[in-house]
Amino acid sequence: MSFISQEKVERKVGLLIALTFITVAIGGMAEIIPLFFQHSTTEPIKGVTPYTALQLAGRDVYIREGCYNCHSQMIRPFRAETMRYGPYSVAGESVYDHPFQWGSKRTGPDLARIGGKYSDDWHRIHLTDPRAVVSVSNMPSYAWLKDAKVDGAVIQRHMERLTMVGVPYTPEQIAGAPAAVEGKTEMDALIAHLQGLGLARKNE
Ligand code: HEC
Repeated sequence: MSFISQEKVERKVGLLIALTFITVAIGGMAEIIPLFFQHSTTEPIKGVTPYTALQLAGRDVYIREGCYNCHSQMIRPFRAETMRYGPYSVAGESVYDHPFQWGSKRTGPDLARIGGKYSDDWHRIHLTDPRAVVSVSNMPSYAWLKDAKVDGAVIQRHMERLTMVGVPYTPEQIAGAPAAVEGKTEMDALIAHLQGLGLARKNE
């Protein structure tokens, strides 16, 4: 006879919910907490460096425009995925992503290894008018990004804040941020971001 009999638990819905919650919480902690201390999830893999000021500005545009509603940035470890997109994604590639953009919604293709797949000009045309390069595309046009300027002061503050969560930007990189994005458009920044995605494991 156990301390709380099964019959008693099943008759009292409140108790059943409480005990289920406690069990799932303990299981969840056992699975999740170790991830915060494992090197494979907390250390960058070789070749992964923090985003440059321009790439970071592009990532902000990516998030603001909701590209993640149609694009994931995570290649799953299945043959069909790796044949199409390249080596599957590992956690060490995303350690500088706050927040990460893995996602699972794929109206369009995964973008985890889009870097280097097309020229900058291709992206410029595609973002301005997707149907000009892919006739059946239902991706929206983002033509106005070429008229919007990147705000250097905003990116500088963003880099400062990222150091608080462990992104190792040097004081020189932060000081140089406004100059690095001077005169750049949001289109330039977004393309720089896309062209940098997934390069560390691309040729494995
Ligand atoms: C409504 C859904 C939707 C949204 C939102 C969207 N896309 Fe797409 N995207 C697609 C579809 C569908 C395709 C495949 C057809 C094509 O290439 O245009 C695509 C293709 C792409 C490709 C080419 C991928 C490849 O491997 O050929 C890139 C790069 C891309 N999108 C970037 C972006 C960016 C950056 C944003 C945000 C500014 C964005 N997309 C927003 C649907 C979307």
